[in-house]
Amino acid sequence: MSLAWEGGRHPGWPARLGPLRVDAGLVALRPPRLRDASAWSATRLRDQAYLEDWEPTAFDGWHERNAVLAWPAHWSSLKSMARRGHALPFVITVDGRLAGQITVGNIVRGSLRSAWVGYWVAADRARGGVATAALALVVDHCFGAAGLHRLEATARPENAASLRVLAKVGFRREGLFRRYLDVAGDWRDHVCFAMTAEEASPEGIVRRMVAQGYAQTA
Ligand SMILES: CC(C)(COP(=O)(O)OP(=O)(O)OC[C@H]1O[C@@H](n2cnc3c(N)ncnc32)[C@H](O)[C@@H]1OP(=O)(O)O)[C@@H](O)C(=O)NCCC(=O)NCCS
Repeated sequence: MSLAWEGGRHPGWPARLGPLRVDAGLVALRPPRLRDASAWSATRLRDQAYLEDWEPTAFDGWHERNAVLAWPAHWSSLKSMARRGHALPFVITVDGRLAGQITVGNIVRGSLRSAWVGYWVAADRARGGVATAALALVVDHCFGAAGLHRLEATARPENAASLRVLAKVGFRREGLFRRYLDVAGDWRDHVCFAMTAEEASPEGIVRRMVAQGYAQTA
């Protein structure tokens, strides 16, 4: 059997996905750019209270970690992981403006062909279908061009918005990981969800989202 990545290529990267129209606007995904620094930083500094409870604990403070000057190192690390085939790091745009990130990480090939997916959306674009659309685009890309077979996502049981996004997109609850991730200053339980390529086929998640009225193709 010939596998696309055996030649050292990293399927599915770089890529631009979408657009999909949702209530918040036109959602598209693209690779991060060095010049995203000021939009990224301004959004994350403004949204500290809304994001902080769901993000990994860090020893440096929120302001230092999300300053304009922090972006080049973050961008460079995402770029390097993507080049090595370990991640698919997307910036989410709404009507062409940075409105969040969605990252497929820990990509393992071979007979596993699995990864996790994580995301955040700017508070002023929240509850408008952006995360749902971004996740649908990413799932179809992962099971299509990127050649993966399984995606996992975890969310804190208290994170009602994220649990709802995963349910809408069709992720299946697999169990509770106790004291799984160091988030917001402590080891937090996380609900584990997963989806395999078979569960997204034959029509794909984007088509399903459109049929269910969650998004429109632009
Ligand atoms: C989770 C998050 C990405 C959702 O983004 P979003 O663009 O608002 O998501 P969507 O609009 O596609 O869907 C959100 C759904 O959750 C629902 N929701 C939002 N807040 C909710 C709350 N506090 N309680 C219950 N439901 C809630 C919305 O009503 C919507 O469901 P609906 O379409 O059935 O009405 C965003 O809230 C966020 O970035 N949060 C902080 C970071 C984070 O939690 N990341 C994920 C870590 S696992």
